[in-house]
Amino acid sequence: MSADRDGSTSGHYFDDRPDVASDPVMVDVTLADTAFVMETDRGVFSRGHLDTATSMLLRADLPIAADGHLLDLGCGAGPIALTMARRSPGATVWAVDVNERARELCTNNAQRNGLTNIRVAAPIDVPSDLQFATIWSNPPIRIGKAALHELLRFWLGRLGPDGSASLVVQKHLGADSLQRWLVELGYRCDRVGSKAGFRLFTVRTESLT
Ligand SMILES: C[S@@+](CC[C@H](N)C(=O)[O-])C[C@H]1O[C@@H](n2cnc3c(N)ncnc32)[C@H](O)[C@@H]1O
Repeated sequence: MSADRDGSTSGHYFDDRPDVASDPVMVDVTLADTAFVMETDRGVFSRGHLDTATSMLLRADLPIAADGHLLDLGCGAGPIALTMARRSPGATVWAVDVNERARELCTNNAQRNGLTNIRVAAPIDVPSDLQFATIWSNPPIRIGKAALHELLRFWLGRLGPDGSASLVVQKHLGADSLQRWLVELGYRCDRVGSKAGFRLFTVRTESLT
């Protein structure tokens, strides 16, 4: 496979153990309220740049709890987790990914930026009794619809009573049908942003709204 936007040159960015050779690139991320430097690499989503969808999520005014447990579902190199940790220094941010190289990058990026409130973990290593006050994700749409639904059903089911999730999804990758599916599942799912082919959704437990 030739190199594509996610920086992979073989396999997928969501492989557990990318076998493509490492070739790190540093990326400066500057947002209105914070800035950090992030190492990215081949075999991990969005090498060499901040992804456009992720940028849209990070630049939006989204709900985020000040404390408790927060989740970046599919952390990659960690731009979402790092931002959450900066914005909610009193919270613990769980940065979860199946990709081992992504977890290493995210761990190093947290250290590099002096962020001590990030816990990087494989999905299976997240304690099963944790509930999340906030979930933010640029979810792995390319794993396929059935797998994505299973993933979201599992992690959204772990939202705490007042919790909310914010998801950014490309329109042409099924954002609107995903919104309908979440509503059918019983969630309130509001479109809170739409720009350049991307949709930003905030998801809450319907009974609380
Ligand atoms: C679209 S990328 C977003 C990466 C990063 N959050 C960013 O914005 O740059 C989705 C991430 O989800 C991860 N992923 C895929 N399947 C997963 C799963 N079952 N559980 C957790 N993470 C998964 C991929 O490895 C990938 O890093």
